[in-house]
Amino acid sequence: MDRAKDTPPDWSEQAGADFLQLDPAQAPPGGLSHWIAESVRTAIGDGRLPLGARLPPGRRLAAELGVARGTVTEAYRRLAEDGHVAGRGRAGTVVVAAPATAPAPPAPGTGRAPADPFATAPGPGVFDALRAAPARIDLTPGVPDLAAFPRAAWLRAERAVLAQASPDLLGYGDPRGAAPLRAAAAAWLARNRGIRADPARLVVVAGTAQALGLVARILAAERVEAVAVEDPGSLGVRQHLAHWGMATPPAPVDSEGVRVEALHATGAGAALLTPAHQYPTGAVLAPDRRRALIGWARATGGLVVEDDYDAEHRYDRPPVPALRAMLPDHVFYTGSVSKLLAPALRLGWALAPERHHGALVEAKRFADLGSAVLPQLVLARLMESGDLERHLRLLRRRHRRRRDALISALAQRLPRARVHGAAAGLHLTVTFPDGLDDTALAQAALREGAKAHPLSWHRVRPGEPGLVLGYAATPAGRMDEAAAMLARALAGAG
Ligand SMILES: Cc1ncc(COP(=O)(O)O)c(C=O)c1O
Repeated sequence: MDRAKDTPPDWSEQAGADFLQLDPAQAPPGGLSHWIAESVRTAIGDGRLPLGARLPPGRRLAAELGVARGTVTEAYRRLAEDGHVAGRGRAGTVVVAAPATAPAPPAPGTGRAPADPFATAPGPGVFDALRAAPARIDLTPGVPDLAAFPRAAWLRAERAVLAQASPDLLGYGDPRGAAPLRAAAAAWLARNRGIRADPARLVVVAGTAQALGLVARILAAERVEAVAVEDPGSLGVRQHLAHWGMATPPAPVDSEGVRVEALHATGAGAALLTPAHQYPTGAVLAPDRRRALIGWARATGGLVVEDDYDAEHRYDRPPVPALRAMLPDHVFYTGSVSKLLAPALRLGWALAPERHHGALVEAKRFADLGSAVLPQLVLARLMESGDLERHLRLLRRRHRRRRDALISALAQRLPRARVHGAAAGLHLTVTFPDGLDDTALAQAALREGAKAHPLSWHRVRPGEPGLVLGYAATPAGRMDEAAAMLARALAGAG
């Protein structure tokens, strides 16, 4: 076998002060560590340090540059915090991600410019268009700090699973999901969300998105044609429900969550709610609203679809138990690891009221015969070992720092913006005085280099303009730059 093909390139001999063209005499004011970190970032960005390349050992680079070793250590720490490099034990510090850079526009006649996601009313492909739009800072809501994904723990768990898996595990599985994950998820829900669930009743799904399709099919079979949605509420969720044939009448949200009398007025047989951290306002469903909602469900037989999308992430407030814990007979609960680990895993769980459990299992069977088994077993192991809880604690610390940095940058640069819903989750919402076109603002922000959602995307009826800003994936050190871009966009749009 050709070993050379399997071994990552060893750049350690090349990557030094010369290779990086570092000369301390040229360092601008602002600190040597900052300058070293910037120089390395540039080298990663322009391809001189490709993915997998090793940075020179700190001691050697410090000696070559004639600076203190701590200066280089601090630079590497910043790069690691930004997610560009990671310590790999004896392998040293390795490049793991390139900085986001705006690609050059295509030369005339060589390709199409990416579609402007803000040019028209948001349609089904709008999130793809936004993802493709180049930006220096991405404040798109909905992702945790993906640079912190526990790669080593995942690999360890995957190795252990493969070492022990019997061949029959590689056959068709139970459509409800692998038993170890159902057990681990039920324990997780008990510990973190106050839900008592029998693992036999839990169904592993490909994220909340799939659960929405499954519940829509269950409802359609019962001739329920409308699922009321929060307004504002997630555009993506509304699109999914509409795709599966559901009407989505809006029920307004205020600082205490959904207005239950308005929900009554919709006449819908089901309601999609985000009680723990309303998307996108961040409101927590108040206790008397919870009671009113229980009254609605019991009086009408209505089903609450509880989208518990980011409830594990909270900073300045105690946990809010899931609605499912109070009302198991009327709540179809769904959660996922998209905000705990990574959306790319496409793994989550759903719990139906007992009367719908069989229909849920059937819907999942006919959707895909069950989710991929190996990733389920790996996730189960991460949950059993405590690695997932450790990861959540790490994320909380990182996210909190990023959130605080964004809030203080906004206070300085956009003093008229009102911040909402920052006590929990992965995003916050800012609103502006009426009269502003927030889609034009988001469009201008994108031209300045910052990507975000206009609040109006998530509204059905007109309301205060604003932006939804995801902070979890952007290092604290870049928040001032992000706020400056938003401020320039606001100056142009206002
Ligand atoms: C409110 C809300 N619900 C559901 C989802 C989809 O989550 P999943 O990745 O679990 O399908 C998202 C994704 O961002 C979301 O913001």
